[in-house]
Amino acid sequence: MTPSTRSLLSILFALTSTLTPGPVFAHSHLSHIVINGALYHGYDPRNPVENPDINKTHNNPRPNYPDSVAWSYAAFDDGFVAPANYSHPDIICHISATSPKAHAPVRPGDLIHIQWNGWPVGHIGPILTYIAPCESQSGCAGVDKMMLRWTKIDESRPVLEVLPNNENLWDVEHGRAGMIGKRWATDVMIAANNSWQVMVPKGLTRGAYVMRHEIIALHFAAKRGGAQNYPVCFNLWVEGEKEGSVTLDSYDAREFYRDDHIGVWVNATAPALTSYIVPGPTMANWATPVPYAQQTSMLPRSDGTPVLVTRSTETVLWTAEVTPTTTGRAVRDKYHRNG
Ligand SMILES: *[C@@H]1O[C@H](CO)[C@@H](O)[C@H](O)[C@H]1NC(C)=O
Ligand SMILES: *[C@@H]1O[C@H](CO)[C@@H](O)[C@H](O)[C@H]1NC(C)=O
Ligand SMILES: *[C@@H]1O[C@H](CO)[C@@H](O)[C@H](O)[C@H]1NC(C)=O
Repeated sequence: MTPSTRSLLSILFALTSTLTPGPVFAHSHLSHIVINGALYHGYDPRNPVENPDINKTHNNPRPNYPDSVAWSYAAFDDGFVAPANYSHPDIICHISATSPKAHAPVRPGDLIHIQWNGWPVGHIGPILTYIAPCESQSGCAGVDKMMLRWTKIDESRPVLEVLPNNENLWDVEHGRAGMIGKRWATDVMIAANNSWQVMVPKGLTRGAYVMRHEIIALHFAAKRGGAQNYPVCFNLWVEGEKEGSVTLDSYDAREFYRDDHIGVWVNATAPALTSYIVPGPTMANWATPVPYAQQTSMLPRSDGTPVLVTRSTETVLWTAEVTPTTTGRAVRDKYHRNG
């Protein structure tokens, strides 16, 4: 066992012993994103304002922030989209998702640190990221998700690695024999405090974009239709050149996946499985995924102020006045900002 593996193991043991609050932890959502040290809020679907029954089954989740840059959606159990719905609009940005008004400002080449609210050990699989431009006057605010056309910019390759000397990273929680000697992209993510970094492509044209980040959990995928897709979307305002140098693809998310693809219907815990074919469209050849060795946890240093897009090319800083609260209970003092 190498020292790095040993430290990974100890982190993982520490995580499973301290952070696992039982069945509630079986799913997840986007906690927040961090860009250059600044935090932008995600979205917790277990929201007591939108679903009053939620407190009966979950750990008293807090209301959502009115200046969240993440799309809201209706998976009240923090759950997933199943392969049966791969051609349904729910696969685009999760169940009945709608776009917020706020956008997180970024520059091409910036790293976006995507923080999940935990991830269960044993929910192994690939981590994928796509972007789609929004062309409306208000950027991606309230955009028709059916019109979004996507480019894949990360697919967490190699996804599955066979470790030397049959090292046993996993499966601490379930003791699955099939996991001996293997490391999945999700294991790398868990070791980085359940987070994943994505680079905003260099050469991206100035404008508003939706970033679609997704984990496909394969622990039940040996059964056809048993894979679990966890897509989360958030809005970005990219301060790029007027004419960027990269050409975007135009994939419709409802055509990304098929339930019989070899990377979707796969016995992921079978000892004989030594490599993995990532489903979905081909990744853009200009994309620059962040390698495993650079995946690391990130503590935010400040609160970020999102922007609103006006006249498709201009932005103003978000304030409580210009964005009436639509979700959650706003704490005005805290969220009121004059830029
Ligand atoms: C597919 O989506 C519909 C609408 O959100 C939902 O009612 C149904 O349960 C989903 N099917 C599966 C297998 O998850
Ligand atoms: C998956 O592989 C494991 C290990 O070989 C095996 O025990 C299990 O029955 C397989 N599952 C299915 C549904 O084929
Ligand atoms: C890990 O992530 C949680 C949020 O899920 C955060 O509160 C915590 O500070 C993070 N820890 C580190 C070391 O990054």
